[in-house]
Order: sequence, then structure tokens, then C-alpha cells
Amino acid sequence: LDVKVGNAGGNSTSGLQYGVMFEDINQSGDGGIYAELIRNRAFQGSKVHPSVIDPWTAVGGAQLSLQTLSQPLSVALPTSLKVAASSGRVGIANPGYWGFDIKMKSYNGSFWVKGAYNGAFTVSLSNYLSNQTLGTVNVTSKSTGNDWTEHSYILTPNIAAPNVNNTFSITYDASSTNGSLNFNLISLFPPTYNNRPNGMRIDLMEALAGLHPSFLRFPGGNNLEGDDPPYYLKWNETIGPLKDRYGYPGTWSYENTNGLGLVEYLHWCDDLNMEPVLAVWAGFYLNGPVIPADQLQPYIDDALNELEFIMGSTETKYGALRASLGYPDPWTIKYVEVGNEDNLGGGGSSYESYRFQIFKDAINSKYPDILVMASTADYNFAETENAGEDYHEYTRPDYFVGQFGFFDNFTRGFKTMIGEYAAVQPNIPQGGGVDWNATRWAFPMWIGTVAEAVFLIGAERNADKIFGAAYAPTFQNLNSYQWTPDLISYSADTSSDVLSTSYHMIQLLSAHRISQTLPMSTPEFDPVYYVAGYSNSSNSYLLKTAVYNSTETVHMSVTFEGVSDGAEGLLTILSAPNGVSYNDAGSNVVTTRNITVTADSGGCFAFELPDLSISVLEVNG
Ligand code: AHR
Repeated sequence: LDVKVGNAGGNSTSGLQYGVMFEDINQSGDGGIYAELIRNRAFQGSKVHPSVIDPWTAVGGAQLSLQTLSQPLSVALPTSLKVAASSGRVGIANPGYWGFDIKMKSYNGSFWVKGAYNGAFTVSLSNYLSNQTLGTVNVTSKSTGNDWTEHSYILTPNIAAPNVNNTFSITYDASSTNGSLNFNLISLFPPTYNNRPNGMRIDLMEALAGLHPSFLRFPGGNNLEGDDPPYYLKWNETIGPLKDRYGYPGTWSYENTNGLGLVEYLHWCDDLNMEPVLAVWAGFYLNGPVIPADQLQPYIDDALNELEFIMGSTETKYGALRASLGYPDPWTIKYVEVGNEDNLGGGGSSYESYRFQIFKDAINSKYPDILVMASTADYNFAETENAGEDYHEYTRPDYFVGQFGFFDNFTRGFKTMIGEYAAVQPNIPQGGGVDWNATRWAFPMWIGTVAEAVFLIGAERNADKIFGAAYAPTFQNLNSYQWTPDLISYSADTSSDVLSTSYHMIQLLSAHRISQTLPMSTPEFDPVYYVAGYSNSSNSYLLKTAVYNSTETVHMSVTFEGVSDGAEGLLTILSAPNGVSYNDAGSNVVTTRNITVTADSGGCFAFELPDLSISVLEVNG
């Protein structure tokens, strides 16, 4: 295949081509990137998921029960754990989010107690397989019985755990109490990314950093929406001290702690240098209930309040609230999405387009520079509204490849975000898209990864229209999940993260950012799909390719206008053993080959690409 790349006449890209989509699904927040180690730390519950004691267990024969005291820890956290015993060393134990990865590092812990106790608590981490105590700290009680008292401590284990089969416990001398103590908000954090208090798991942040992401779409996905009234993700219940954060039932079958809240998302953006793409609730519940037009105003006000909290000066009501929580400096929001997959212009009885317009008008009248995006794949609607749109695609490999030219006819300058995509099922003889009733892949498969690359390269060719793309879902806790396939899988063991085949593909494409696409002579595609461009950050020409369904090795001859004979290029080729290979725990089927290629006397780079491969050729110039 001959590819001749010109050196002028292409389109500027957004600079945000690859990003991250996040919602709490698959225990990706609680039990995932949010570093809290204690599961069910505050007995949060709702009508959907009533408060439970599980997974806490009693130590030393104490009786455990849940109580709603007349004087709770807070309005947000009304339920506490009553531990009853009149003698002996008793307490409570927790297995964490399916284990603890214990290192010889400092762990920051705290817990609240109500009830008179004249003695010391012992906080321990132990390995239950070997019955070995890994670390312990005594915490002198400040609890007098009149009020809730917070106890903070640092626990530094003197033994690193051989595995994650560890238990956290707090014990005390029951004979020095009046027969019971109430506990709440029992927290333990390992060292976090950038040492942020209430911060993020280091290994998972490093995995994300490896993708060089440019934007973070949050907080959903379905999890923004709620299933039924009165539950949807309310930003103002996710800010401030942890004792003031309500639980939220979410839409993925578990109660969210809201410990990972709005400020934590913004810190996450700061830490990985990502542009926030903020989703606000549009008034749709997943199970069907809709806030009617004449009752929408409070929700629009709420979206504006959230933006004021993030962006307002400390003179404003919500900017002052932000400052009072310790964040005087505002953040900037340039992208707001209204809802999630609400198909606002789609014409269904409840999916009226006026809804989007009201939100957009309200947001843009105060923040004219914000691109307000409809959560619809209806491109015509979004174009008419001069708005953004969020295109989602979960499908089969062949279908993705068929979408290579999907964005070609979109109007230039229009900003479409591919807010979610993934190849989720194998090809079928009759072709077509996803079947939501059929089993999905457990992990990204190589053929799907290559097809995603074809789709993404198609998006990059239209980078003046498509501002970026994010795989979804991003995370999966292998011990508890609702959705497959996922980009990054993990357990409590921080050394065994699974970086999927699609992770490696995104990493390669994202690391080589095209600033300006470049025209190509008589491009023909199939079985090779490609895009060429110039990178201002590395001062190099780039050719990105994916080979899909080729019956033979492809011979490539590539010239870049302005690059002369003898120039050297670096060719990186990703491949994997067969179409359905995937990365499981402890394996990496993706082979990366780095090859130096030299332009011949005609300035031509000649190289070969195997079927089902993804590559980037980078030539300085
Ligand atoms: O990514 C999983 C789900 O797929 C998202 O929550 C939703 O937006 C989409 O339907």
C-alpha cells in the first residue's frame, strides 16, 4: 500500500483526543480508585440498600447491632454500629474490599465513638491465614459518652503481608465501658497518589497516567441518573467532611459512600492534567420517571450552583462554600454534559429537546464559553442546537470497522465527544451491532481492540469534529462487578492490575498526539486503516495504522512531503497471538515491537504490517 502524506492542508485537533470516562460501576470508586480500605465504613443505606452490618464481624464475643441514635454522628450518617459486651477484650473486624494489600508504610486511620470508655483501643492489621499480626497501634480513648468523638491514628505495619488475606480490627476492654460503645465512620487509608487526604489508589492512578489522558468525563454513565426518585447523584452530598456525605444507592447494585466526590474528581483532573467534562443531572431516572418541564427549574438552579461551587469567586455563595471547605482557588469547567444517554433530541415521549435547551441556555447565559453537550447520539439535533453531543458505541468488531468513515460527513468545527465505546461481543455471520441479551466478553479481546483502533483512527481523521474518545467502563474490581469487558481490572492486590489489550492500544495512540492532521494522496482503506498528522509536541510526522482482516502481510510504502531520504523513523507495532487473545491477571498477550525504519533514496519508508496489528510510525521533522 502506497501512502503519500502531504505537509499542509489538514485540520487542527482539539488536543484532547484521548480521555477517561468514570462512574462508580464494578466497585470502581468504592473498592477501586478511591483508596479507602474499609468496606461499609459508615453503615450508609437507603430505601434501595438498607444499612447492613456486613462485612463487619464481632471480635471476642461482642454483640453487634445497627442503631439510629437520637444523637447520630451526623444527619448524613445516622446509623452506627453498637458493640455490646461487658467484659473481655472485644471489638470489630473488617475484611476490606476483599482483602488488604499491607505494606510497611504509614496508614492513616480514624473512627468515631459514642459511649464512655476509659482505656485504649487497639487497632490491628493481621493476616488471617498465618494468624500473624502485621501491625498494631494503641489509641487512647477520648470518648466520654456525651458526644461523638473522633479518634485518629497512624498505623505502620512492621511486616508486609504475604498476600491480601488480611483483617482490620479495633478492640477495647469492655469492662471499662458501660456495656456498649457505638462506632461510625471507621476509615483507613494507605498512602495515596500525590499524598492527597481522602485520595486515590496509587497503582490505579499510575495505570491511568500511563494512558496520557486529556479529559475526565464524570460522574457517569448511568450512575449519574439514579434508578428511581428520590435518588440521583447530588453533587452537594459529595462535598465536605466525610461525616457530612450521604450514601447514594447508585444504579449498579451497591451503595456508594460519596467519599469520592466532586472535589476529589477535580483533584483527580489536576493530578493527571485532565480537562474536566462535568455531567449534570437532566431530570431523567433510569427506570422511567421524569421531572416534568414545569418542575425543572430547581434542577437547573442546582446545575448552576454546582458550576458556581467549582468556578465562582469566593464572593459568591457557592464559591464561598468551596473556600470554606479549604479550596479558595476556583477550577475551570469548559465542558458540561446534560444527563447521560438521555437522547434529548431523540423524539421519545419524555425525551424532549426543550429540556436540553433550557439547561444550555441557563448555563451559557452565565458561562458563554462552556460547550454544553447533549447526551444524545443524534448528531442532527446537536448540530441544529449548536451544541456538543456525546456519542456512545458498544458493538462488535466488524461493526466498529464499518464505522471508520462514520464521522466523515459531520460538519467541521462541531465538537462530538465519544464518551463511551468498547467492542463487547464477537462477530456474528449475519453482522450487526450489540445484542444486549447475549453474553458479553469477559475482557477486551484482541480482535475487538484492533476494531476499536480502526474506529478511533476514523475519529482522529475527523479530529476537527471529534474532540476526544474514552473507553468504558474504565475499571473492574475482579471481586465484584456488574459489567464486562473493562479497560483495567484489579483486586485488593495492588501488584496484579490487569491492563487489557485495549489499554495497550489506547496507550500507543494516545502517546502519539496529532496536532494537525495531514492530507494523504488517494487514500484507500481496508484492510489497512490509517491517519497521518504532525505532532507539535514531539515535532514529528505520525502515521497511525490498524490492519483488520487482511489475508496477507501488508507491504507499506510511506512518504512524508518534506522528509528526505535517509531520514529515520521509529515504527511501533502492537500485535497479539490471535484475534481472541486477551490479558488475564498476570499475563500480557500484547507484543510491542519497536523497529527503526530508514527512508530510501525516494524518501520512502517501507515496512510490513501483519494482520490484526496496530502501529505508529514516528518520523522527526
Ligand atoms: O459503561 C456502562 C454503561 O453503559 C454506562 O453507565 C451507560 O452510560 C452505558 O449504557
